[in-house]
Amino acid sequence: MKELIEKAISARETAYAPYSHFKVGAALLTADGHIYTGCNIENISYPVGICAERVAMSQAAANGERKFIAMAIAGGKDSYCFPCGMCRQFMAEFCDESFDVILVRSLDDYQYLSFKELMPYTFSF
Ligand code: THU
Repeated sequence: MKELIEKAISARETAYAPYSHFKVGAALLTADGHIYTGCNIENISYPVGICAERVAMSQAAANGERKFIAMAIAGGKDSYCFPCGMCRQFMAEFCDESFDVILVRSLDDYQYLSFKELMPYTFSF
């Protein structure tokens, strides 16, 4: 998944984070074999901002993709950037338990987590 990791790191470059100064990049692989990227985009009205993960997933969904396989997330260089609760719920819509989340600190420092580990009890009705 080196390509996914590289793309998450480059997607972080275009993050718009003038308030937190915390830049995040995400790269998402879909079942169709396409990769979509995203970065966080903040807003002066803070809650309006959006995380990198949801930008990448929205790009994929808007292109008709409905099944996601893996996502690399590159946030801070000192610690892994775990996806927030809202992003985990967004993932739950399009990912099954085997969805891989790759937390990236650098090209050779990353960690895998399955979606099941990240979010064991998802809402359903
Ligand atoms: N952020 C992400 O983009 N992804 C995460 O997984 C956690 C947080 C963003 C939101 C905000 O722009 C900045 O990081 C600081 O919270």
